[in-house]
Amino acid sequence: KAVTLVGVPIEEGSGRGGCAMGPAALRIAGIGQMLQELGYRVSDAGDLRPGPAADLRTNPKAKNLPIVGAFTRLLEKTTFDAACADSLPVALGGDHSLSMGSVSGMARYAEQVGRPLFVLWLDAHADFNTPETSPSGNMHGMPVAFFCGQAEFAPILPADRPFVDPKQVYQVGIRSVDEEERVAIATNKVNVFDMRAVDEDGVGAIMRRILAEVGRNNGLLHVSLDVDFLDPDVAPGVGTTVPGGATFREAHLIMEMLHDSGLVSSLDLVELNPFLDDRGKSARVLVDLAASLFGRRVLDRPTRSA
Ligand code: ARG
Ligand code: MN
Ligand code: MN
Ligand code: MN
Repeated sequence: KAVTLVGVPIEEGSGRGGCAMGPAALRIAGIGQMLQELGYRVSDAGDLRPGPAADLRTNPKAKNLPIVGAFTRLLEKTTFDAACADSLPVALGGDHSLSMGSVSGMARYAEQVGRPLFVLWLDAHADFNTPETSPSGNMHGMPVAFFCGQAEFAPILPADRPFVDPKQVYQVGIRSVDEEERVAIATNKVNVFDMRAVDEDGVGAIMRRILAEVGRNNGLLHVSLDVDFLDPDVAPGVGTTVPGGATFREAHLIMEMLHDSGLVSSLDLVELNPFLDDRGKSARVLVDLAASLFGRRVLDRPTRSA
């Protein structure tokens, strides 16, 4: 099995500096070596370095649109090409606006192979703002609306591109949603398992439901992991910490269940801000979580059915 690492040093979607150092920190924490040790053929596409798109205008409601749009276009193509070459794309972020590109690339791939694309969004935030609803104008709060075809920008990708059906988006860990965003996720029927759902049902039950649904539809599953999904005590290296996040054990269980499902088609590791981190702690947690997702386990165990 093959994996393609793609460094995406974008921070312009986040409204502060630091995320551009994320790919370097993830590499120093051993993301490539870990995958090799698990038996994957790893290719590294290096770090994407697009210049700002000349045809996109700056817009206070969608800050840094020319550079975010340029990354979106390049990552969309890089992700699509890796998937077509039967290599699982892993985007090393970079802020969460990069998912506009990675998920759109996987949506194009899914359409080509005739399978539905599902998205598992592990985040404190719904990231379903549009330029009209966003209180900040920061585009890392907009990727889900974008790939679901709900956010109007100047054209970044071709108008006939495939969108993700919001009913095929599963959000887990949500605990910070803006006022108009709340209306939008309800109207569009995004599947939200907020932290209350995690507390009441547990991540095991939630994940069994989600994976059963993806499996029943022969879907591809894109996983997008925002550092702030985790509790700030577990992973402090992120600009948008929200208290009351997932524990180390909950996050690892999710990753192990994802691996056992065999459904994961692509992965984003986003919002790591090494400038805010505690001596590489959050970078190491992300690499350990990715190891669980790619099959590192403590013991062999009989497979438990849903
Ligand atoms: N909802 C807030 C906003 O739109 C915060 C978004 C945070 N997103 C993230 N990917 N960390 O500005
Ligand atoms: Mn996010
Ligand atoms: Mn977030
Ligand atoms: Mn927030």
